[in-house]
Amino acid sequence: MNAFSSETSLIPARMTSEHVRSLLAQRRPGYGLPGNFYTDPDIYAMDLAVIFEREWIFIGASCEIPKPGNFMTAMIGPTPIIVLRDRQGELRAFHNTCRHRGFKLCEASHGHTPALICPYHRWTYRLDGTLAHAKYMPEDFKPEEFPLLPVHLRTAGGTIYVCLAEEPPDFAPFQEAMTTQLAPHGLENAKLAYEDNLIEHGNWKMVMENSRECYHCATGHSELMITFLDIYDFANPEQNALIRGYWDKWDRAGFTASVAEGPDYRAARLPFTGSAQSITMDGSPAVSRPLGQSPADAYGSLRWVHYPSTFNHCLNDYTVLVRMLPIGPEETMVTTKWLVDADAVEGVDYTIEKLTKVWRVTNDQDKALVERNQAGVRSSGYRAGPYSPSLEAGVLKFVDWYCGKLSPRQLGVGRERVAS
Ligand code: FES
Ligand SMILES: [Fe+2]
Repeated sequence: MNAFSSETSLIPARMTSEHVRSLLAQRRPGYGLPGNFYTDPDIYAMDLAVIFEREWIFIGASCEIPKPGNFMTAMIGPTPIIVLRDRQGELRAFHNTCRHRGFKLCEASHGHTPALICPYHRWTYRLDGTLAHAKYMPEDFKPEEFPLLPVHLRTAGGTIYVCLAEEPPDFAPFQEAMTTQLAPHGLENAKLAYEDNLIEHGNWKMVMENSRECYHCATGHSELMITFLDIYDFANPEQNALIRGYWDKWDRAGFTASVAEGPDYRAARLPFTGSAQSITMDGSPAVSRPLGQSPADAYGSLRWVHYPSTFNHCLNDYTVLVRMLPIGPEETMVTTKWLVDADAVEGVDYTIEKLTKVWRVTNDQDKALVERNQAGVRSSGYRAGPYSPSLEAGVLKFVDWYCGKLSPRQLGVGRERVAS
């Protein structure tokens, strides 16, 4: 046991390593997952235990909680967590659950408070998690025995991740890569301009898979295609020249243009099409103040993903962060955050309408696509099909990563907690 010990979800008894191996054996290499991976409550419970309670989970940006006392909250499956900035300005994460009778402490997605006061019986916690007051408790009550349970927290280039496991996996490779990749994008000097929450009635893997390809963009996202190329093809001389020219501008500005890739992440810079400068309805910038130090004449975005919970775009004028967290076997909360320069003034330098329009339309389109895909996969007539090796390589990488997490060794960890 250590300070980060907490009760985590149980791997259902039915999900033995033999059973999971037999399920995975139904999958052909290069093909999608069998349908029950998107619907079965026991597989969902296994996903929570093996993925969401063991991996680093993206929460948001450190600029969302710039001052001591600022906090933000999120639900990782059934587990409420709170991330805050303490009096010393350090970021901390805790279970958002009162140590008295378990009340969920903070409901708001963001806020500011000098202390965390449970609304139920007013137990009051300091920003370092220690219990400051608990009225009407006996004389031998020891407040020091009831601090909020801490949760591991790390940052990378101004973005925040938490891990519910006692012993979290190595964060260093991703942290190193993204600190370099995000350096020009100024996320630490940004502010949250707008946040949007959308429930998609689809399994979390369906939501992630949909985000990992642009095979559907030409037919599914006409607004996004004002700035995007659906295919970035190095064999096409025109596109090759466009991409190489874009990368050269980054190199000349002294920043890396290289792709960063690991087992659970990928970051790549890609140019926009035509004369587009930003992802807006007309391709013109959404914000008159730049965010970070992107080369002024290099128009494109840093597109990056980290499994299992986020994909993002950093542009010259804004950054859009998307967080995907499971709610149930067939339900996922998709939270989109738009960041702009901290000194940008709404109504002067940008409007929420122009800043958010393309992604709000795109998210609604993706919600409809995911829900219709979920409806088809739920059918007894569903048979997993093959991915396109060129246009769905990102989907395949994610699904292969997921399957790798279900190895007998991974399923064996925590087996002492197996439910009966
Ligand atoms: S449950 Fe929080 S004070 Fe009682
Ligand atoms: Fe999409």
